Amino acid sequence: MALSTGGIRARSVFTGSAGLMSARKILITGASSGIGAALARVYAVPENRLVLWGRNGERLAATAESCRNLGASVATACFDLADFNHFLKTLDAEDAASPIDLAIFNAGLVGSLPPNRAAQDVRAAEIMTAVNFTAPVLGANLLAERMAARGQGRIVLIGSIAASFPLPMAPVYSGTKAGLAMFTEALHIRLKPYGVGVTLVSPGFVDTPMSRSLTEPKPFLISSERAAAVIARKVERGARHIVVPWQFAVIRFLAGLIPQPIVRAVLSRL
Ligand SMILES: NC(=O)c1ccc[n+]([C@@H]2O[C@H](COP(=O)([O-])OP(=O)(O)OC[C@H]3O[C@@H](n4cnc5c(N)ncnc54)[C@H](OP(=O)(O)O)[C@@H]3O)[C@@H](O)[C@H]2O)c1
Repeated sequence: MALSTGGIRARSVFTGSAGLMSARKILITGASSGIGAALARVYAVPENRLVLWGRNGERLAATAESCRNLGASVATACFDLADFNHFLKTLDAEDAASPIDLAIFNAGLVGSLPPNRAAQDVRAAEIMTAVNFTAPVLGANLLAERMAARGQGRIVLIGSIAASFPLPMAPVYSGTKAGLAMFTEALHIRLKPYGVGVTLVSPGFVDTPMSRSLTEPKPFLISSERAAAVIARKVERGARHIVVPWQFAVIRFLAGLIPQPIVRAVLSRL
């Protein structure tokens, strides 16, 4: 089976990773844009049923249309993940209707501090925390119990390389992603004996509307199609942690060797 990546064809992935050979129903949040939309197209093969969520109905419909053209069956829903009651009810109903094999909690928000402010606007911080941290943690938790009872499934959480660095221009963003990374690590250990896989994805810079909104330099920027192809290939191999593009894994490793006061001094100059 080949995976379509809109231009890039990834080699077969449903061939050997425990718990993933039967991945037929795939949930992706944030599928109306960027990495989520590209991931949806990667998984859009005739055998798969995609459940795609987002907020913007027009863009979500465009993703769904491209996935249907690639042969997948697709269901969509538009809502705000920060409405936790609605989100959890919808997730619960979707999994009860037929089990989700692979859940990719991808939706997220970024927000750099404007130069004239010392800290993030409180309301913006609340929304970012809800979408980047609380919603994926609640959703993963709900599915973890159900997947553990079934003895199979995989949960993928899209974090950020920002989790590894205390970014002074985006303290709330790096904080939410660091929290998500720690949650994912712990959940991975917790669910392993149940046969449920958990993967953390830490993107560096991927060319999407989110990264385009940032004015900072974006070294090693890659396309969302390329990022999605790498993520899907490694998810299907059962990876615990995926850093994409790979150069950021090297940067993260090297930064770990440098004394923290030096790292902090460099970050404070950004
Ligand atoms: N691009 C990068 O360089 C980069 C780097 C590190 C990490 N990441 C992470 O990768 C993930 C995807 O980012 P992206 O670059 O693809 O960004 P994007 O193009 O801006 O897409 C973000 C997605 O999240 C959805 N979303 C945002 N707020 C939501 C809410 N309140 N309720 C429901 N859905 C919501 C958006 O839906 P609507 O558009 O429909 O509102 C959209 O589908 C995020 O978790 C991000 O933190 C990205």
